[in-house]
Amino acid sequence: MKLFLDTANVEHVREIAAWGVLDGVTTNPSLVAKEGKEFKATVLAMCELVPCVSAQVTAVDAPGMITQGEEYAAWHKHIVVKVPMTVEGLKALTYFKKKGIKTNTTLVFSVSQALLAAKAGASMISPFVGRLDDAGENGMGLIAKIMEAWSHYDFQTEVLVASTRHPEHIEEAARLGAHIATIPYEVFLKLPKHPLTDAGLKKFLEDWEKVKK
Ligand code: E4P
Repeated sequence: MKLFLDTANVEHVREIAAWGVLDGVTTNPSLVAKEGKEFKATVLAMCELVPCVSAQVTAVDAPGMITQGEEYAAWHKHIVVKVPMTVEGLKALTYFKKKGIKTNTTLVFSVSQALLAAKAGASMISPFVGRLDDAGENGMGLIAKIMEAWSHYDFQTEVLVASTRHPEHIEEAARLGAHIATIPYEVFLKLPKHPLTDAGLKKFLEDWEKVKK
């Protein structure tokens, strides 16, 4: 399973990329606004660190999405154009597929939406599990249903588990065979930790102190 960082913070990407386990980054307009840095410079800096960076269009009509997406794709070969899951988005996805431009369909909340985006040729779809949980629904249940549907067909579209909130989302995504999970920085920092690892290492080092010459 590929692991992406869900951020617009270049230093966080640099830090996690140094672990050797980072496959990509997803940004969105809210994350970019939070950092307050210039969008193009941010995305290009990330493209130097990881092979896959999602950059979201902000136009809401297909012609506008296409203009923006073609511009982003020309910036760097690592850029994936992120398109919202709307009817206009489906038209744009169809265009980008024909042009060989990689896409990530964002704001997916149902199997129907996943199916349509895959049929329109999306490279990835992003079901938002945390926001479904927040709304009292079962986010990972949606991933299970999408993976079940995918098992019957030969879609090339990768399922990217988005809006993750805690390590259990990542573990469950892997158990369900999702292709990618995008993870907030604070959640990524929790993944290598286990209290028994810390306790075990402390004991090993204490014991070594007793015998070392
Ligand atoms: C995905 O690409 C989105 O950027 C992200 O996962 C949204 O997560 P949120 O629900 O925490 O805003």
